[in-house]
Amino acid sequence: MKILIVGGGGREHALGWALAGEGREIFFAPGNGGTGNNIPITPAEIDKLAEFSQREKIDLTVVGPEAPLAEGVVDEFEKRGLKIFGPSKNASEIEASKAFAREFMKKYGIPSPHFEIVTSFEEGKKMIENWKEERMVVKASGLAAGKGSYVCMSKKEALKALEEIMVERRFGSSGDTVVIEEYLEGEEASILAISSGEQFLTLLPSQDHKRAYDGDRGPNTGGMGAYAPCPLIKREDVWWIEEHIMRPALSGLVQEGREFRGVLYAGLMVTDKGPMVLEFNVRFGDPETQAILPLLKTDLLSLIEGAIEGKLPERIEWEEGYAVCVVLASSGYPGKYEKGKEIKIEEWDGIIFHAGTKREGEKLLTSGGRVLNVVGKGKTLKEAKEKAYEGVRHIHFDGMFYRKDIGDKGLRYG
Ligand code: AMP
Ligand code: GLY
Repeated sequence: MKILIVGGGGREHALGWALAGEGREIFFAPGNGGTGNNIPITPAEIDKLAEFSQREKIDLTVVGPEAPLAEGVVDEFEKRGLKIFGPSKNASEIEASKAFAREFMKKYGIPSPHFEIVTSFEEGKKMIENWKEERMVVKASGLAAGKGSYVCMSKKEALKALEEIMVERRFGSSGDTVVIEEYLEGEEASILAISSGEQFLTLLPSQDHKRAYDGDRGPNTGGMGAYAPCPLIKREDVWWIEEHIMRPALSGLVQEGREFRGVLYAGLMVTDKGPMVLEFNVRFGDPETQAILPLLKTDLLSLIEGAIEGKLPERIEWEEGYAVCVVLASSGYPGKYEKGKEIKIEEWDGIIFHAGTKREGEKLLTSGGRVLNVVGKGKTLKEAKEKAYEGVRHIHFDGMFYRKDIGDKGLRYG
């Protein structure tokens, strides 16, 4: 069987690792320095991806990032009779348009903050001036590579954010519509579900670490580490989230004619009033996936094929214990950073997923902001954390930086 994975980050390396098995040949487009069978096609080149799949007789394509989903890669593959895992373009709008997502959540009673949608700077300015609190969150509605949300502590900050989005047009047309929403206080967690439409199975709850530095300080990044399962979300909370968030979202999407087949990711804020949805994503999380998949006992392929065919298994089997993923980044990330630094990896018996790496002859070089993902597993969260940081000590490159506190929030829960 031939499987194509679209994307080149840590998430895609982890997907390939989990899908590997006897009789399966895995290709990556474009992949990275840790993956084999790399095809020089980027996720944006939908026609080329489809042509490659036809030519090579790929049996299944799995899409990592959101952009090609929002651009209709699934619709194009299905039109050509090619098997692909991910939501259609119109189902992907729940991530691609924050305005649509908020209206949808309101319509289907999914717990979320109060929000307003504005389509001009003047309208937004008035909204901010009349907002009943100083704090608020200002978001470009469209895709902005995870950088379009501004958590503002004052109206002055909010106005500056609005100006960046709507006047300076930092995110281009993604900022034509802006969502202003109530600031929620709490702790964040992620819940992902594999869905065949209305039927779904949730994966282990996990927690990302979005800020660059220890103690959740510094700028937002694509994610500096994750761990699973996240003890903040207890078993009964998972059930509650399934019934009050996942099920209404998936059946709402069916009712809207946007049936969702793929991975629905709910980014949650656990507030003192319960979990509320910060955002829905339409794909596996990065780096959550790197912490979740190493604990999966069920064959990922059976889950993906089950979702595509509408025959998900009864339940997912997990290993006992925890996994912690620490992201090693290039100094300067998420701002400017240098590439091309040589990476040395000493022998170690844990899991390393590559992200921004490339091979040049015998050498492994850095080629991105997030470079490697080091995953440790353990019976306890503490053991898993120790294992991951033991792995970190086996890796060296110029300017390597990472957070030292991945998993600590979970340790507080014992
Ligand atoms: P988003 O782009 O919606 O995922 O938001 C990015 C980050 O901004 C989230 O991970 C949260 O840390 C923060 N955030 C988003 N919405 C809110 C909100 N309503 N209240 C507080 N923080 C938020
Ligand atoms: N970990 C955040 C994301 O995948 O969007």
